Amino acid sequence: MIEIREILFNEQTIAKKVRELAGRISGDYAGKDVVLIGILKGAVVFMADLMRCISIPVGIDFVRAASYGVSTEPSRNIVITKDIETDIKGRHVLLVDTIIDTGETLHCLLDKMKAKGPASLEAVVLMDKKPRRTADVRLAYKGFEIPDVFVVGYGVDCAEQYRNLPYVAVIKTGE
Ligand code: IMP
Ligand code: MG
Repeated sequence: MIEIREILFNEQTIAKKVRELAGRISGDYAGKDVVLIGILKGAVVFMADLMRCISIPVGIDFVRAASYGVSTEPSRNIVITKDIETDIKGRHVLLVDTIIDTGETLHCLLDKMKAKGPASLEAVVLMDKKPRRTADVRLAYKGFEIPDVFVVGYGVDCAEQYRNLPYVAVIKTGE
């Protein structure tokens, strides 16, 4: 059985942080040819909010990755199951995800996007579960640092549920 234990970030708190990140991005990338790449499925809600708060022109695309092996193993195999359709060569790319945990997914996708020859490449994450990081990933734009807790909502799931919650919550499992 799974149930919501507490709300970690409510809608107002998230909206304020998203505006902050979007403001920084809009300033840093003014005059540049920018593409936001969201990592499916978790990034859909964050992407939708973030892009609407960005005041400069940006292109968007999505990538989907699947990982095989134990999710806590740093060496697990990550493959792209849906690649981007945009030519990012010579463009300024921001890879967007809602939560980073070990960092292996983001690390692998940054490598794969780098191979496509962007002018620059940085990562944007709303939540950083820093205590569990195993991969060395530079996060140019980061919303919140969170402890090692399992969260759901705002696009993030537990067994494909709870993605539609407008807030981020900690769930309690097996009790
Ligand atoms: P990483 O490769 O270990 O950084 O895993 C990142 C991915 O794991 C995220 O994009 C989420 O899909 C998933 N994930 C990590 N932490 C959580 C969580 O607390 N709840 C739900 N999904 C999570
Ligand atoms: Mg998931």
